[in-house]
Amino acid sequence: MKILVIGENGQLGRSIKKSFVNSKLNDQYIFVGKNDLNLIDSKKVSNFFKDKDFDLIINCAAYTAVEKAESDVEIADRINHLAVKQIAKIANTKKIKLIHFSTDYVFDGKKQEPYIESDSPNPINIYGKTKLAGEQAIQLIMPYEAIIIRTSWLYSEYGNNFVDTMMSLGVEKSQLSIVNDQIGSPTYAGDLAVALVNILQNKDFRKSNQKTQIYHYSNNGACNWYDFAKTIFQFANIKCKIHPINTENYPTNARRPKYTLMSNNKILKSFALDIPNWRESLKSCIMILNKQNER
Ligand SMILES: NC(=O)c1ccc[n+]([C@@H]2O[C@H](COP(=O)([O-])OP(=O)(O)OC[C@H]3O[C@@H](n4cnc5c(N)ncnc54)[C@H](OP(=O)(O)O)[C@@H]3O)[C@@H](O)[C@H]2O)c1
Repeated sequence: MKILVIGENGQLGRSIKKSFVNSKLNDQYIFVGKNDLNLIDSKKVSNFFKDKDFDLIINCAAYTAVEKAESDVEIADRINHLAVKQIAKIANTKKIKLIHFSTDYVFDGKKQEPYIESDSPNPINIYGKTKLAGEQAIQLIMPYEAIIIRTSWLYSEYGNNFVDTMMSLGVEKSQLSIVNDQIGSPTYAGDLAVALVNILQNKDFRKSNQKTQIYHYSNNGACNWYDFAKTIFQFANIKCKIHPINTENYPTNARRPKYTLMSNNKILKSFALDIPNWRESLKSCIMILNKQNER
């Protein structure tokens, strides 16, 4: 297969590259970043694909700034929705498979048990709305040959994320207040990247005329942001006091769903995956971060 990965410099893009190298994937692949393929510019996107052929596009580029999206609606919509729609059209015309990533924030958080793929989405912030519009465009344009993987609370040893922010703040400050009434599952991008390689190596995935599917993928287990921060400090040996607070006491531009735990059952039934618990993966990521900091 000839694979194009869009979003080379994001945390998932970088994790996928590492995973492709480690797994010695027997496919040809190229990674492109914003400088090679800027999704904001539809003309550049069509020109990019004009003289190139791929068997699979993996899109991990996105507008991921949840807070900023509230005032940057047009740009967020262009990247998370309109560009995705354009990529789906290109993929459909050229008979290219597509793997796209989405988010737990497509849900409103009113459920009290893990969300399954057939649950109705109802996003409560702009980021979630634009990501859902992207998902819906793919489903409409590509009834076959696409996979949408929704993930949650993504972190990695790369770039800005909650783990990285807590590790910096925890050293700078003696105490912090973190919300304890939003429940979900932190997901290590490295695990998702390994799962992706497993999907690529699946015989059924490689067959043609496969019905488009949505899958949920998060690390196993549940927590709230306060638990997550506490565990980061425990594993990183950071002595910063943290106080649990309610969402109401931490005003943000974007509304956040209270509960976005997602069930992994469907993806586990379809692919032979071994999904670690979030604590186990967090420990490994912090070990990598500590090693990087020693250098
Ligand atoms: N982060 C989370 O907590 C989270 C949670 C659930 C789902 N997800 C989903 O998981 C996927 C991967 O997320 P991530 O955390 O890896 O995101 P990320 O680290 O923010 O990376 C996103 C990438 O998209 C690229 N990008 C942004 N605007 C672009 C444009 N106009 N043209 C081309 N590329 C552009 C960025 O390029 P630059 O680096 O050059 O800006 C960046 O490399 C996304 O679909 C996201 O919605 C993320």
